[in-house]
Amino acid sequence: MNSRDTELVYGLLLENGYGKADSAENADIILFNTCSVRKHAEDRVYGQALLLRKWKRKNPNAVLGVIGCMAQNHKEKIFDKLPHVDFVCGPANIYEIPELIKKALSRRGHLLALDRRQRPNVGQPACRESDVSASVSISEGCDNFCAYCIVPYVRGREQSRSEKLILDEIKNLADLGYKEVVLLGQNVNSYKSGRVNGFVKLLEDINKIKGIERIRFMTSHPKDASPRLFKAMRDMEKVCEHLHLPLQSGSDRILKRMRRGYGTAKYLKLVESFRKILPGSSITTDIIVGFPGETEKDFDRTYKIIEKVKFDSAFIFKYSPRPPAKASGYPDDVPPDTKAGRNQALLKLQENVSRRINESLVGKNLEVLVEAENSPGKIETLWGRTRTNKVAVFGGELNLLKKLINIRVKSVTPYTLVGEKLS
Ligand code: 5AD
Ligand code: SF4
Repeated sequence: MNSRDTELVYGLLLENGYGKADSAENADIILFNTCSVRKHAEDRVYGQALLLRKWKRKNPNAVLGVIGCMAQNHKEKIFDKLPHVDFVCGPANIYEIPELIKKALSRRGHLLALDRRQRPNVGQPACRESDVSASVSISEGCDNFCAYCIVPYVRGREQSRSEKLILDEIKNLADLGYKEVVLLGQNVNSYKSGRVNGFVKLLEDINKIKGIERIRFMTSHPKDASPRLFKAMRDMEKVCEHLHLPLQSGSDRILKRMRRGYGTAKYLKLVESFRKILPGSSITTDIIVGFPGETEKDFDRTYKIIEKVKFDSAFIFKYSPRPPAKASGYPDDVPPDTKAGRNQALLKLQENVSRRINESLVGKNLEVLVEAENSPGKIETLWGRTRTNKVAVFGGELNLLKKLINIRVKSVTPYTLVGEKLS
């Protein structure tokens, strides 16, 4: 979501006559698009204070802005720690950025653009990072209020984008030569359009758009995902066989305290149903360790469920309190060393699980959408993704870019497949 906002803002700036600088040092405008989902992300922005001072000294007319969720979260307090920043702008106000830049250029002190409750239901990025795969927002904000999560407070309540805007955006992407769309929402399964089974109906309409060859989406919430969705995924040839299904914890007690709205039995049933309906598919997840009150026993349950489910990959996070989320009022009672130890243990476990799953793919033929050139100097000159969202590298000519090809997997790491193109 954050990367998509960067594309939106970058597009807005291009439309307003600005161009891309070759480095931050030489730029006249520097914007930090920030995330506040974990404290670490915010700390990293405050860690840039010295660098900002250096840039300002070198180019006193440079405009510095902090935008995104951290801007909404910390508001004018950002100016206390980062006095060189000219403006702070929340995620719902990003359309005001060209105006803010103009004002900052005429030197009107610290500027704040916050607190618009809902993001305007308009707009698509005028500039995108990739020319093959495009992110398309289908809903903004979230109504779930999981106890650890700041998103509903900084991004606002859930608001579905209109089907017409989404379909027009995707048709336009198809005309521009894009092959893949990634539908984004904090909880795509609760997409509402006024039609029953709104998300599945939306997928069906996108599946009919000529030129688009692959459809992905994230994130699915276990409380709203269902076998009906999995069957729809199976029946639509463009929808890829990958599900990002955040588990968060393997302990029912902790899931309840997290206010996730499901228990491990329901989660395991969903996984079983997904794999039965879509054999050869992949499942990825998010896990938080060290949530308030997490005991060794709770952690052990998470460890065991990761061993049991065998996720293709998992993002594993150490809990950090995020006021005003509900759990920020609970004692943050798992010591930092314990959080770090649990984090390491799960990372190691997951690495082994991912490696074994990938090893089982050696010798198999897989369809890959060729996305871009690999880093210079590599024998595998290109990279792409399988339908199951695994990154694959392989050798080939540049005319393969944007094409669907088949590769045979030769070797693997826990994170990448190395293949050769089949003729
Ligand atoms: N601490 C740690 N991880 C968090 N996440 C969300 N809030 C927190 C927090 N306070 C993680 C969840 C979510 C992912 C995007 O970030 O796992 O799924
Ligand atoms: Fe946060 Fe929960 Fe909403 Fe995900 S579903 S964005 S974790 S409140």
